Amino acid sequence: MHQAIVCKSEFCINKTLLSVTAHSKAFTIRSRCAVHVSAPLIEASELTKQFGSVKALAGLSFRVMPGEIYGLLGPNGAGKTTAIKIITGLMEPTSGSVKVEGFDPIENSLEVKSRIGYVAEKPILYESLSSRDFLEFVASIRKLDQNAANRMVTQLADAFGMAKYFDAPIATLSMGLKQKVALIASLVHQPPVLLLDEPLSGLDAKSSRIVKDLLSLHTQKGGAVLFSTHIMEVAEHLCTRIGIIYQGKIVAEGTLDQLKSKTGNKSETLESLFLKLTNEETEVADKTRLLGDVFFKNEAA
Ligand SMILES: Nc1ncnc2c1ncn2[C@@H]1O[C@H](COP(=O)(O)OP(=O)(O)O)[C@@H](O)[C@H]1O
Ligand SMILES: [Mg+2]
Repeated sequence: MHQAIVCKSEFCINKTLLSVTAHSKAFTIRSRCAVHVSAPLIEASELTKQFGSVKALAGLSFRVMPGEIYGLLGPNGAGKTTAIKIITGLMEPTSGSVKVEGFDPIENSLEVKSRIGYVAEKPILYESLSSRDFLEFVASIRKLDQNAANRMVTQLADAFGMAKYFDAPIATLSMGLKQKVALIASLVHQPPVLLLDEPLSGLDAKSSRIVKDLLSLHTQKGGAVLFSTHIMEVAEHLCTRIGIIYQGKIVAEGTLDQLKSKTGNKSETLESLFLKLTNEETEVADKTRLLGDVFFKNEAA
């Protein structure tokens, strides 16, 4: 049964407490998205991507449903950034297909761009502009109502504790602050789908917590989040479902409990499961032994 519904996302950040609550009036995001109850917001099917002799993706398939925070968890070079770039339409796959709310990112580029908020691994910002001017520019190219966009941007900036840096050139900001500017830019048009490539890497603990709460609220209201990470704890604490990606394809997928039960050992940590699934456990043990040799043999000598 595919019953079409219109969902209105409405959530808020309490800027005084810097915590997110569902009912605060501090700021409100409303996203309107026509979704089918059982239709995925993101669907990647058998994606491959070849860069010369390097196979970055080798038949990657996964779906992200409304309400899900799906974590692509994998080691460096596993293909996370390539997959996300293909979903945004910035890169074409060698083969396979992607749909965002049923739209193809290359053929229906405008439809997809209006539905996604994207934070790149290394966000591209206009460094000579201030955050305020940059975000006004983003709102204008998205043809948003300037007053509403300004209100939203101001409230997000307050929530992220960056109001006082808002008129400084972006070039002078720390990596964490730049990441916050990129996050605000990705949220300003209230997209149903968020694509975040390693979104918490430069953020302090408080801001990470705000982002996590924000993502939970986004999905509670029917949005979807796809994010990539190589950090086990982030995946463990944030995701409703995890896809472990290794050498360009999903090697295991499920909720944390489902993943743990695959090994028959419920007390297994996600880290050891991850290392097993990506065949890195033996390699890590070998490297640790090697390090032990280096340190302790030198000490004994
Ligand atoms: N533009 C590119 N040209 C050549 N090789 C690339 C390019 N982008 C990525 N790769 C290669 O594809 C593989 C997957 O990279 P990437 O998607 O960035 O992985 P991850 O984000 O999981 O660290 C790596 O081997 C990387 O070196
Ligand atoms: Mg990457």
